[in-house]
Amino acid sequence: MPLAESDKALIAGLRAEARNCPESGIVEVFNYGRTRPGLIPLWAGEGDLATPSFICDAATRSLAAGETFYTYQRGLPELRAALAAYHEAQFGRPFSTERFFITGGGMQAIQLAFQATAGAGDSVVIHTPAWPNAAAAAGLVGARVVSVPSEFSINGWSLDLQKLFDACDGTTRAIFLNSPCNPTGWVATKAELRAVLDFTRSHGIWIIADEIYSRFVFAGERSASFRDVAEDDDRILYVNTFSKNWAMTGWRIGWIEIPEALGQVFENLIQYNTSGVAAFMQRAAFAALEQGGAFVEHQIRRVKEGRQVVCGVLAKSNRVEMAWPEGAFYAFFAIAGEDDTAKLGLKLVDEANVGIAPGTAFGPGGDRFMRLCFARKADDLAEAARRLSHWLGDGADQ
Ligand SMILES: Cc1ncc(COP(=O)(O)O)c(C=O)c1O
Repeated sequence: MPLAESDKALIAGLRAEARNCPESGIVEVFNYGRTRPGLIPLWAGEGDLATPSFICDAATRSLAAGETFYTYQRGLPELRAALAAYHEAQFGRPFSTERFFITGGGMQAIQLAFQATAGAGDSVVIHTPAWPNAAAAAGLVGARVVSVPSEFSINGWSLDLQKLFDACDGTTRAIFLNSPCNPTGWVATKAELRAVLDFTRSHGIWIIADEIYSRFVFAGERSASFRDVAEDDDRILYVNTFSKNWAMTGWRIGWIEIPEALGQVFENLIQYNTSGVAAFMQRAAFAALEQGGAFVEHQIRRVKEGRQVVCGVLAKSNRVEMAWPEGAFYAFFAIAGEDDTAKLGLKLVDEANVGIAPGTAFGPGGDRFMRLCFARKADDLAEAARRLSHWLGDGADQ
């Protein structure tokens, strides 16, 4: 609906950064297809499993016990200690509790990271195709976003590090690096992470490390991490979330891991953003860490199976161009002759009854691709793959 002049004037009165905030590129296809009977929705970045009951029960118990008051800005001490122990188990060395701060999802961890490092007149460098929210959050704090497109080959996506470094200049305050990458499935090697670290060390640039999919990898136990090559006091802010590992996307709880020296600054930032995360949610997150090991393993097994089901079918089509993802839980593929993926998303709703996100939502380099989330039960994925290959009409479903 076109806006009335008075509404336009109201919007014009806002800060440019708020006014210019982009709409999500996934919303159009989502709104178009959400009520279609029988549609298999694979557009969102989440699985189909509800949060396990042992996690929900911990929240309920907390509320029943009257934990309804203001709480620690940094997060409950028990939860922060549990995060330190979780990292110790993942990385085989001790972590200080003082490095961990609880946030309103991974998204708010990213907001805090940008609020702390960049502002008007600064730039941040982000490789694309990428989950669009990081760039939007950088834009909101007034920073200029410089995109560095990754390169596609059927053997895998890659990031030319020289291009990443060339994109940095005297205004660059941070590099946002997402590995395993949503949407491409690219996973940085340890050598690549070391090279990025060396470069940022010598230029005083921050790294915002988004390794939230680190356990969803298809070779090995976890992806390489900056923690494998960096010191605790390097300029690295690690953003993370309970959303994916523990099926808690709707809860909005995550964490940020920072050098200890920044503790008071981040406590202040949390104070003036949200004043902390509700205690009952933190109790749930604590249960996730304490008792959720088997559930995470179950999710990883499902995602491995989902990848096989979906990519196995897509790879057979001679109209599909795709690299098998190395990590995360998305197939990111192009279809020959279908370059307008925003329209293709709508067409696949109408003609295949499958919901997939258009690559246009993920920035430069992603336009001709579609993102399909395979964190879902194998039966649904097999049916979605069957519908897609039938739609492709090249016999891939035979
Ligand atoms: C790469 C990446 N980082 C961060 C997030 C944030 O997760 P949340 O805000 O749900 O915790 C997402 C969610 O899709 C993501 O894909």
